[in-house]
Amino acid sequence: MNISLYLYIQVNFETSLAGDLSYEDACELMQRNQHLSLAITECEMPFLIRKVTHGWTEMCGYSQEAAVGRSFRLIQGAQTDSVQAEYLCQQAAQGLTAEAYIQNYHQSGRVFCNHIRIIPLRSASSEKATHFLGYFEEVDG
Ligand SMILES: Cc1cc2nc3c(=O)[nH]c(=O)nc-3n(C[C@H](O)[C@H](O)[C@H](O)COP(=O)(O)O)c2cc1C
Repeated sequence: MNISLYLYIQVNFETSLAGDLSYEDACELMQRNQHLSLAITECEMPFLIRKVTHGWTEMCGYSQEAAVGRSFRLIQGAQTDSVQAEYLCQQAAQGLTAEAYIQNYHQSGRVFCNHIRIIPLRSASSEKATHFLGYFEEVDG
């Protein structure tokens, strides 16, 4: 794959052509883009975290060991919009891409606005999503 992960996600969100990235492709992209904030989750509720990049651990304050096997409840709190969080889960349950802005909590307790984009990962042999890739950016707001 010779396209940057950032461009890949942008293109997918602008054209709604998501779906041709596999779990193995996503792992490789994560490996090569440790500075970005990325996570791979399981494909069913509660979308447990399978792996995160160094960028995600920096953004959220939790180590890979602390995050793996947990849901994103880990970084939620009183100011988190549960309607937006539920929207992400509903889209994911249908194998769809989604985007949301959610107030999340760094391990220190600091609240930040998380711009979240998720895309389904699929194997060549299956239409059904096998995992999800999340791309996260801290933004003002
Ligand atoms: C791929 C994906 C990524 C998600 N990322 C976040 C996130 O970064 N922050 C957040 O607050 N919720 C996020 N959500 C929504 C949470 O997964 C959901 O609110 C949470 O799993 C509920 O946890 P619980 O079932 O343990 O209560 C995401 C959902 C999906 C499907």
